[in-house]
Amino acid sequence: MSTATNDAGGSRHRDPFVPQMYRVERVSRELADTVTLSLTPLAGQRPSFAPGQFNMLYAFGIGEVAISVSGDTAESAFVHTVRNVGAVSGAIEKLAPGSVIGLRGPFGTGWPVKEAEGSDVVVVAGGLGLAPLRPAIYAILANRALYGRVVILLGSRNPADILYRHQLEQWRQRLDVDIEVTVDHADRDWRGNVGVVPKLIPTATFDPHDAFGLICGPEVMMRFSVNALLNAGLPANRIYVSMERNMKCAIGLCGHCQFAGTFICKDGPVMRFDRIANIFVMREI
Ligand SMILES: Cc1cc2nc3c(=O)[nH]c(=O)nc-3n(C[C@H](O)[C@H](O)[C@H](O)COP(=O)(O)OP(=O)(O)OC[C@H]3O[C@@H](n4cnc5c(N)ncnc54)[C@H](O)[C@@H]3O)c2cc1C
Ligand code: FES
Repeated sequence: MSTATNDAGGSRHRDPFVPQMYRVERVSRELADTVTLSLTPLAGQRPSFAPGQFNMLYAFGIGEVAISVSGDTAESAFVHTVRNVGAVSGAIEKLAPGSVIGLRGPFGTGWPVKEAEGSDVVVVAGGLGLAPLRPAIYAILANRALYGRVVILLGSRNPADILYRHQLEQWRQRLDVDIEVTVDHADRDWRGNVGVVPKLIPTATFDPHDAFGLICGPEVMMRFSVNALLNAGLPANRIYVSMERNMKCAIGLCGHCQFAGTFICKDGPVMRFDRIANIFVMREI
């Protein structure tokens, strides 16, 4: 597998423990508790990254959290979409343009964007799970002719929580991408699918014998999505999931992110399903 490794991008020349200073250039409100930040380095250029990799964002005096890159590899900024779930993510969600934040990275493995060339691609996202998948979608759409069918399936708790709503509408205008969105709980105005996202897989159009599955979302959603793709006929070695665990060092030293015999920070977060199938059912250890 040729997924990107820890030293993809310029990080190999830097001390991976020392945060670099980044300025918040832009803040876009996505949802009531979620923002997208564009970050540019105070000095030099941002390191390159592979779709699926993450950075450690440091809110000064509060702490550091792992956040996936959610922007385009072609952009000069690091773009991150952050949900406020606690002290650190809450501080980051409140940052205003012009603020300065610490950043280490990029770290971890990436989606199999290169390997999937020539094949169909089925992207399955649950809620905020669309954020780590978005750079892969950008990369695939930028080289659309290199891929077969491209299917994007998104599940959201309710219509108000649909992430990147405007972008989904833009992608939907294209004739070369199939997009289906489903919600767990519909409101009065919702005219779309209702139910969990794995239920969209059996009716999606792709060639199961020549397709890659890219899945990100809550673990229970990923388990059902993996099963639905396997049932559709996708081989386990063509299904990739992005795992989340508590991170501290992010470079394979502290053991905080241990997932049985693997470290999510360096062997993941993007992992090929057949390599973790036996431990995929385990809770955080
Ligand atoms: C590889 C990787 C990539 C990630 N990418 C993103 C991303 O793109 N955007 C993003 O917003 N977050 C992302 N996360 C999750 C993010 O790191 C956590 O939300 C963050 O560490 C929470 O820290 P905190 O101090 O704000 O909250 P804490 O005080 O640590 O946690 C507050 C509460 O939220 C719960 N919690 C922790 N993480 C999550 C979560 N992911 N979802 C829901 N509840 C949670 C905790 O169990 C706790 O109950 C990623 C995590 C990993 C490991
Ligand atoms: S976060 Fe320290 S080993 Fe992965």
